[in-house]
Amino acid sequence: MHPPAVLLLLLLDAGAKAFRICAFNTQRLTLAKVAREHVMDTLVRIVARCDIMVLQEVVDSSDSAIRLLVRELNRSDDSGPFNYLSSPQLGRSTYMEKYVYVYRSHKTRVLEHYVYNDKDDLFAREPFVAQFTLPSNVLPSLALVPLHTTPKAVETELNALHDVFLDVSRRWQSQDVILLGDFNADCASLPKKRLGELVLRTQAGFHWAIGDEEDTTVRASTRCAYDRIVLHSERAQGLLRAAGAFCFPKSFQLSEVEALNISDHYPVEVELELSRAAHTLQPLSLATLLLPSLLLLLLPAPLGPVA
Ligand SMILES: *[C@@H]1O[C@H](CO)[C@@H](O)[C@H](O)[C@H]1NC(C)=O
Ligand SMILES: *[C@@H]1O[C@H](CO)[C@@H](O)[C@H](O)[C@H]1NC(C)=O
Repeated sequence: MHPPAVLLLLLLDAGAKAFRICAFNTQRLTLAKVAREHVMDTLVRIVARCDIMVLQEVVDSSDSAIRLLVRELNRSDDSGPFNYLSSPQLGRSTYMEKYVYVYRSHKTRVLEHYVYNDKDDLFAREPFVAQFTLPSNVLPSLALVPLHTTPKAVETELNALHDVFLDVSRRWQSQDVILLGDFNADCASLPKKRLGELVLRTQAGFHWAIGDEEDTTVRASTRCAYDRIVLHSERAQGLLRAAGAFCFPKSFQLSEVEALNISDHYPVEVELELSRAAHTLQPLSLATLLLPSLLLLLLPAPLGPVA
């Protein structure tokens, strides 16, 4: 193969790679739930789409359900392995939930993490913030701020989420932050007018990648954009290639009743094109540098000396 062809392939290959970040309200993920074979199979296929997945509503005090899920992911997906990071149990009563990050450990790792110090008890389940490395020169790390709001206090929590953003960006000296999860940011929980008044909407710099017209609910009878992904990072916004809800019942040909055994929410996802920034520039500039000399080498006969 000619060297130019190799360079071209490098360029094409680099353009094809994307890094997918997802959030999924799993609707009370327990050991009993994942122990059901069809639930586990579907969950594995959903999580395996993502490089980082933030699971919410995980009701699993000992992490046994999550360990089972990650073990199955390791076993069944040859692009793994996966690892996980789970929060402490969070909640105001005896009912507690966890946030759990499941991530491809050969592509990304956790740098730091903490549970937001919710002094005024504004959050039912305070964000469990984590900073991940990314396989990219342009965006080497990214902070993720998950939130599952309680439907009773959506506005309060989403406005407090702006304070979490400030805390994260001060602490890690970084503006590269993604806020994501089941915000309950639609329908009866948050009418459109009040949505527009949120600090995260009126302040510049926040890009709501999952828009207000998206449907993130499984039931045909509901149409609400509860689950959201909000990008703060200007760099991440520049790399954003796709965003949307993943309609898993349609993709996996499940009926509504079957799908509801998994969750009443769709996962939401963003795809960042990291490799374009990380790798394409190098082969490109290399090609630009080398091409003239390669062309000279490929010329059939040496040119005569110029008089
Ligand atoms: C998944 O595989 C990775 C890499 O081999 C390993 O570190 C991790 O413990 C495994 N997780 C589970 C739950 O099996
Ligand atoms: C789904 O869950 C119901 C009970 O909630 C059960 O009867 C049914 O067999 C489950 N299976 C499938 C494939 O959906």
